[in-house]
Amino acid sequence: VSLLPYNTFGIDSKARLFARFRSVEELRALLALPEVQHTEKLVLGGGSNLLFTQDFDGVVLKNEITGLQIIAQDEAQDTALVRAGAGESWHGMVSYALSQNLSGIENLSLIPGTVGAAPLQNIGAYGAELKDTFDHLEAVEISTGQLRTFTHEQCGFGYRESVFKGPLRNQYIVTGVVLRLRRTHQVNVSYGAISTTLADMGIETEPTPHDVSEAVIQIRRSKLPDPAQIGNAGSFFKNPEISQTRYDELKARYADLPGYPVPGGVKVPAAWLIEQCGWKGRRFGAHGVHDRQALVLVNHGGAQGSAIRDLAHEIIASVREKFGIELHPEVNIL
Ligand code: EPU
Repeated sequence: VSLLPYNTFGIDSKARLFARFRSVEELRALLALPEVQHTEKLVLGGGSNLLFTQDFDGVVLKNEITGLQIIAQDEAQDTALVRAGAGESWHGMVSYALSQNLSGIENLSLIPGTVGAAPLQNIGAYGAELKDTFDHLEAVEISTGQLRTFTHEQCGFGYRESVFKGPLRNQYIVTGVVLRLRRTHQVNVSYGAISTTLADMGIETEPTPHDVSEAVIQIRRSKLPDPAQIGNAGSFFKNPEISQTRYDELKARYADLPGYPVPGGVKVPAAWLIEQCGWKGRRFGAHGVHDRQALVLVNHGGAQGSAIRDLAHEIIASVREKFGIELHPEVNIL
């Protein structure tokens, strides 16, 4: 089976076996099949955070569990619990929340991928992260087929991290996610570009969650390539954290080095480091570095995943040489 339609990088790799499931029961039935049990498994949501560098000699399980609903309201009606099947598109959940007059995830508008993939890497953008509204999730244990609930704490969220990328990697398949959203419409415009975009839109006071969503959509469209047009998986690298001492040393040499304080040090934008190394907008035949966001590697059409991986390694090496900083991929490389 060609995986071309199932990954936003647009890589034409093949999987030996492919199956889809629409419910927990269908997933359990698949997991009980001997040919599934004894082979490597890859669960696919939107395929928007992975890079295939070779064919996959196992079974791809495509999560198509749907469903969006409010499952509880708190007494004062200040918050509501919203549940989504893991196969729903993430932006679909954002739109549903807005349609129900619930706020909390509008800053995460238009992030590609599915609801089920969102907690794995604790998706984040424009001043918000999934963990800010996350309540709990449901997941099936691959070895037993049992359904289990994970609380916020049990998910071990960090920057683009969770327990499902760490100690529990490849052990659970997320089937549903529940968020706690607000009825009160206080919005988060801490990210500078949101307020400037809102001002450009003519909204100076009391922006609604809809306004913030619109602003985020405009910002994303102006900077990030649409995977339907140019293959990509969003940020290819994580933003590295360095110590305050190291940051001060670098700042003395590179006066315009940006940095954001985090507990234990300073987070530096990988895009800035990559741009300084001269990679932004460079193209090598079918693949290259996006011209408006240096953190995004792109497939202009027909690129090999291995070529994109090799480019990533060259970028890592050049940033290491120039700045002594180690970049780590954010995308799952298979
Ligand atoms: N910058 C450059 N060159 C560029 C782009 C950015 O020098 O080509 C510098 C600028 O100094 C800019 C700073 O990097 O101020 C930050 O840029 P931006 O706000 O665009 O965000 P980012 O740090 O590059 C992160 C997330 C994105 C998320 C944005 C917005 C990571 C790995 N990436 O990127 O997430 O949309 O912030 O909040 O944390 C993703 O994870 O796939 C993703 C797109």
